[in-house]
Amino acid sequence: MNHHLTVSRVEQHGASCISFEMDAPFTWEAGQFVRITKPDSEVERCYSISSIQPPLRLAVKRVPGGQLSNWLNDHLKSGDILEVSSPAGAFTLRPGERPVVLIAGGSGITPILSLAQEAMKAGRVVHLFYASRSPEEEIYRAQVDALSHSPVFHLQRHYDSEHGLPTQHHLASYADMEADFYLCGPGPLLALSERALEHQDRVFVERFVGKARTTVDVLEPTQAPATFSLWLDGRCRTVPYVRGRTLLQCATDAGLKPRSSCESGFCGSCMARVRQGDVLMRSSEALTMNDKMGGMALLCQSIPATHGPLEVDADNTSFRLSKRQGLKPGHARFAFAAAVIIMAVGTAILRLT
Ligand code: FES
Repeated sequence: MNHHLTVSRVEQHGASCISFEMDAPFTWEAGQFVRITKPDSEVERCYSISSIQPPLRLAVKRVPGGQLSNWLNDHLKSGDILEVSSPAGAFTLRPGERPVVLIAGGSGITPILSLAQEAMKAGRVVHLFYASRSPEEEIYRAQVDALSHSPVFHLQRHYDSEHGLPTQHHLASYADMEADFYLCGPGPLLALSERALEHQDRVFVERFVGKARTTVDVLEPTQAPATFSLWLDGRCRTVPYVRGRTLLQCATDAGLKPRSSCESGFCGSCMARVRQGDVLMRSSEALTMNDKMGGMALLCQSIPATHGPLEVDADNTSFRLSKRQGLKPGHARFAFAAAVIIMAVGTAILRLT
């Protein structure tokens, strides 16, 4: 759903970035984004939200040749009205008590800033590694400085102009921490961070790219099911499956509206749990290993893997899977059955004694 929001304040950050605020009729989770449509055009782009409560605050950095980022930087002023989508995205804070390590580069600070605020509000220790080209190009400097007054906030600023490009050495102090990790920034910083944290199992990444970075060609099964079952809004619907279409496209064709945003496999908005059967995904980049082990799939990237029955649950879009909660439905049923058997055996033993 799109909204028309009035811009209330525009602030310049260095030569090539602005932030601005708008009052919004919706709430959002720290780390989510909205999509903005350029006036009188069909150009739209996603921008992360950097505030955790109203007003909605976004930062937009100029992208060379970028149609919307340059227009916003050149023309946006207080009082303008922008078309803005409802918030979406799964780059949100997983619950828990572990410290949170945030690694941000450039405008990647926008969702990271809101995650830092949310984590600190929950009483968690936060470590932020924030890389910018130079002090002049640092975005949200005052807001980051404000967080630094808290004893639970630990900041490592990195300026390429002073320290050179970040290396694994700069991230070494985080590599063995028992923590949840959130990464957002340019591709090279993400690649570097993922290498430095490769043995960590709770690493969540937000990418700037408009499409998933890695996709695979998936071969459709020779016999696809005629329909699949989709749980949505508390009801199970039977959706016709059309070969060559993704589960999301089939659901949309059938007039249904499961949650989605990028439709390119990187935002995670269309996550759903596979209850029965199996799917093939072109890309699963928005999913963590635990999401996959928990039976989650991206509807916008999925097709049926076999011609057997397929049931997916778009209501079960919990982005909060932890390692222990990540049971597949089959495993959960097994655990329940085991518990019933143990209780029955226990009762029988008590009666015999
Ligand atoms: S809609 Fe973004 S990953 Fe599917």
